[in-house]
Amino acid sequence: MPTPYLAVDRDVLDRNLESVADLAHDRSLWIRPHAKTHKCPEIAERQVQLGAVGLTVATVSEAETFTTAGFDDLFIAYPVWARGRSGERLRALAEKTRLRVGVDSAEGAHLLGRALRGTGAEAVVEVDSGHHRSGASPDQAGDVALAAAAAGLRVVGAFTFPGHGYGPGRRRAAAAQEAAALDAASRELRAKGIEATVRSGGSTPTLEMSDTSVLSEIRPGVYAFNDAQQVELGSCGWDDVALSAVTTVVSRRHDRFILDAGSTVLGADQPSWTSGAGRLPDHPQARITALSEHHATVEFPDGRPALSLGDRVRVAPNHVCSAVNLSDELVVFSNGEIVDRWRVAARGANQ
Ligand SMILES: Cc1ncc(COP(=O)(O)O)c(C=O)c1O
Repeated sequence: MPTPYLAVDRDVLDRNLESVADLAHDRSLWIRPHAKTHKCPEIAERQVQLGAVGLTVATVSEAETFTTAGFDDLFIAYPVWARGRSGERLRALAEKTRLRVGVDSAEGAHLLGRALRGTGAEAVVEVDSGHHRSGASPDQAGDVALAAAAAGLRVVGAFTFPGHGYGPGRRRAAAAQEAAALDAASRELRAKGIEATVRSGGSTPTLEMSDTSVLSEIRPGVYAFNDAQQVELGSCGWDDVALSAVTTVVSRRHDRFILDAGSTVLGADQPSWTSGAGRLPDHPQARITALSEHHATVEFPDGRPALSLGDRVRVAPNHVCSAVNLSDELVVFSNGEIVDRWRVAARGANQ
């Protein structure tokens, strides 16, 4: 097969899905995996078979794709701005599927209420637990919830994304802040007469540390495939990485090797704490020291290069969600044989 392409090891994928499904089951947490990682109905189907209560998505388009594929319980964990056509599409979705939508402001709640009133769709207040992205501060959660209720929505709880756990040594503290924020938000909702039956958190790095005395639900996404970031954070090992880009060594200059996959295949995510622009699972000592659109530069710090021109080399992207979003299909392997091809159905579903 010509390179580069994205390969999925179905056996590793299955093991990852099963182990987190077991973790959720053992700790009495609902699991609602984030489907933005794989964007494939085939994987979502397996997650539901393993006990997922529904799926999490990031956009109205992703919700539409998974509804069309037959999924009937979706949470858009995002403060959707439901004006105009977006509001109409949300309403159409709510008429076909069980729908939950995030909200983090009174203005956003007003638009959501106009779009969804009378459909039975539920609202979940997003709170910021330290990632400082979207989300109201926990002490404002009650006011946002009241605005949503006044706009005609049924408010069922609060959610947060502990994305600040993405950093060396930050996982445990982020999980504690996630629980504290959800607990505070639940108390604020209760003070306004609204019971937070949904207390939804979760990211892949923090899922093991989820505080079950507070959280009711986790929404990890990356755990399905894992990636170079998760290995470098210590959330998984190389044997748990289920997706890699298969590349060819196309050029060599002294002790530097050039692979035929760059940012158009691997994605460009490179947080400052990562060791490079992805990793080579079969050569953990190697580093990707530069990335352009169609080239990855590999160096071996120990000075003992282990590659030759024409070799096939697996690369684990830093952030697997970004890599998947750049590919039309995933080539599925089991025991070294191609067993399937999955279309990345929600690829580019950004609106
Ligand atoms: C709102 C939300 N929930 C859940 C997740 C899943 O977390 P992870 O990607 O660490 O698996 C994300 C990821 O970006 C997210 O933004």
